[in-house]
Amino acid sequence: MTNQVILSVEGVSKSFLGTKALNKVSLEVCEGEVHGVIGENGAGKSTLMNTIFGSLQRDEGTIRFMGEEVNFKYPADALKAGISMIHQETSLVQQFTASENIWLGMEDRFVKNGVLDNGARDEATKKLFEEYDLSIRHNAVVSQISMAACQMIEVIRAVAGNAKLIIMDEPTSSLSENEVGVLFRIIRKLTSQGVAIIYISHKIEEIQEICDRVSVYRDGNYIGTRPVADVDRNQIVSMVVGRELTSLFPKAEAEIGDTVLEVKNLTRYGKFRDVSFTLRKGEILGFAGLEGAGRSEVASCIFGIDQADEGEILINGKKVSIKSPSEAVELGIGMVTEDRLRRGIIAQMSVKHNMTMARLKKFCGKGFGIIREREETGAVDEMIKTVQIKVSDRNQRIDSLSGGNQQKVIIGRWIMTTPQILILDEPTRGIDVGSKSEIHRLMSSFVQQGMSIILISSEMPEVLGMADRIVVMREGRAVFTCDREEANQELLGKYVLG
Ligand SMILES: Nc1ncnc2c1ncn2[C@@H]1O[C@H](COP(=O)(O)OP(=O)(O)OP(=O)(O)O)[C@@H](O)[C@H]1O
Ligand SMILES: [Mg+2]
Repeated sequence: MTNQVILSVEGVSKSFLGTKALNKVSLEVCEGEVHGVIGENGAGKSTLMNTIFGSLQRDEGTIRFMGEEVNFKYPADALKAGISMIHQETSLVQQFTASENIWLGMEDRFVKNGVLDNGARDEATKKLFEEYDLSIRHNAVVSQISMAACQMIEVIRAVAGNAKLIIMDEPTSSLSENEVGVLFRIIRKLTSQGVAIIYISHKIEEIQEICDRVSVYRDGNYIGTRPVADVDRNQIVSMVVGRELTSLFPKAEAEIGDTVLEVKNLTRYGKFRDVSFTLRKGEILGFAGLEGAGRSEVASCIFGIDQADEGEILINGKKVSIKSPSEAVELGIGMVTEDRLRRGIIAQMSVKHNMTMARLKKFCGKGFGIIREREETGAVDEMIKTVQIKVSDRNQRIDSLSGGNQQKVIIGRWIMTTPQILILDEPTRGIDVGSKSEIHRLMSSFVQQGMSIILISSEMPEVLGMADRIVVMREGRAVFTCDREEANQELLGKYVLG
């Protein structure tokens, strides 16, 4: 990092109907710097980036880039000036190949005599992949590849466009630890060439590892900027939430009762094999493992999204066959899926309707199928308070909420069904530190009320802090089970990696 300022934002404000998303905020980024940006869900991080990138117009304030004041009307203007942005959700064209996506909008570089030279374009892609040591095929169709590969392609697209500043909005939320390593390697290479990176994340460990400085935002306000080396984790957390957060994992003791769920030798060909475990009343059963170890696939079978090929599922001692999620709900099972942003949300519908759709029956008058509106509305308002969703109106479209708040709506949806068994797949991914401890507190209170929880998490401290027992899965098999007392990071790590 040099001391040469490449981007400076001063006094920028932005309002949406009913919400002041940004209130006279600042940001300063230097050449070759990785600048962390952190703040609660709905703090205004994505909005700020969108005003820099030209996908939103600010109401007031100045933005200077490479010494000049800029007013980008469209992202295309920002791209031309040397700013690239990788969004919270991938923006690649799913039907196109990696190579086509990388050069989208820049094809003129490969046009000879009015004809696009596909060969030359693909050669350029291959060269970039080689240079950055990525094993992605240039002709792989984007819809067929992993989220991680998509993220890398987006980064390479920024490189291809000669970006001087790359904005990354929660780039690692769907990456495994290995993949995060690859991304960090690319980031270091870019900054050594003078490229500046804005790095948004809720994960403080990541910010400490990769960033030079960090800026904090809260409720649309700029709180401050610190060199990462000068602050510790607690100081960052208290800047984010505006108070001290004492314990991150306040797991309370709950009475453990009879077995409510028993899974015996469950197998789904090609996904997982011979998985057996039990879950008891009042228990939190943690599932540790790497992305792709088969944890989500097992959960999908219990919830009726997929069907197992072999094995049995017993609920309260009775053998069941669950053919759809609605049958699972009838049996008292709820599930928050890991990719809730892609699969869980109906963008055009309101917060209220997104939240109550799994439970509508409960709001219906007997026999008539008419929804008791007041009851529905009351339940929604209560849930908005409980999981702390930042929303100005329950009838607001869900896609006008910040990414993290959309996720909280889906979490609220399943809590509302008051299930006997709740499956949480990466429940705190994309959730800010304050709400995260709130969700952990809720989990404790649920099990105290007699609910049972399956917690799938790639964050080892979360599993260690919250689970009563832990199952480790690796390559489709349950390879190890232990009680919380026996468990520690080192022991689990051994089984996770094999
Ligand atoms: N199109 C929109 N219409 C109305 N309100 C909006 C719109 N876009 C954002 N907002 C509001 O602006 C505020 C800031 O949202 P923003 O997406 O910038 O938060 P964020 O800091 O990126 O949060 P997260 O960590 O959850 O991604 C939120 O209250 C959000 O509901
Ligand atoms: Mg955001």
